[in-house]
Amino acid sequence: MSTTFRIWRGDATKGEFRDYTAEAGEGMVVLDAVHQIQATQAPDLACRWNCKAGKCGSCSAEINGAPKLMCMTRLDDLPPDEIVIVEPMQAFPLVKDLVTDVSWNYEVKKRIKPFRPRKPDNPDGTWKMAQEDADRVQEFRKCIECFLCQDVCHVLRDHHKHAEFIGPRFLVYSAALEMNPLDTHNRIPDLKGTQGIGYCNITKCCTKVCPEHITITDNAIIPLKERVVDEFYDPVMKLIQLVFRP
Ligand code: SF4
Ligand code: F3S
Ligand code: FES
Repeated sequence: MSTTFRIWRGDATKGEFRDYTAEAGEGMVVLDAVHQIQATQAPDLACRWNCKAGKCGSCSAEINGAPKLMCMTRLDDLPPDEIVIVEPMQAFPLVKDLVTDVSWNYEVKKRIKPFRPRKPDNPDGTWKMAQEDADRVQEFRKCIECFLCQDVCHVLRDHHKHAEFIGPRFLVYSAALEMNPLDTHNRIPDLKGTQGIGYCNITKCCTKVCPEHITITDNAIIPLKERVVDEFYDPVMKLIQLVFRP
């Protein structure tokens, strides 16, 4: 079956949607169609991909207006007999066609205090950790850094608060570190201050688009917001932390 793909072509200065046709076969995903179009009609069409298995996070784009991985979006899950619109992520600067410059994310990551474990619990240099603590952070470690959550969050996408807000991906990253009982850094003041957790108004759009099904808002962001409240606004907790924080 022939399907029309309306693909964004252009760079940061100018661009337009152009229509292409691809033969949609059984089990095909949007990335297959983009490759077919590259091979038959548009050899200069730029797109980023690597694994074609939903694990490298490279092929992020917007398909019919929704942030998705091109390699995990099956054509038979899209409305039949309708044009498929494919465009680049909107929250980051455009390089060319479907490729955006996501390097801002790597700069943000450098601003987050890294893992700093306490002294080993055992003479052989190992630590003891409760299984439930290991399980809690395991979910966050599934992140493939596709940045679809960053793309959909209105704080970055519509309000362009890149200088003041680290975005859901890095709230997940911070939560993984903060909830690790071996870690000794306190990231809560940074989260409240320069990392802008207060900008998140819990719309949960990030959770809905995550291809790894990480419960970003409920399991990472809300517990971090609660820690901000405990540390900065709860007088009893403030006293306890003054006495017991290392
Ligand atoms: Fe992608 Fe989910 Fe990681 Fe966000 S949290 S970057 S949506 S895998
Ligand atoms: Fe943005 Fe997710 Fe919060 S979409 S507003 S970070 S719940
Ligand atoms: Fe790796 Fe799509 S190509 S996630």
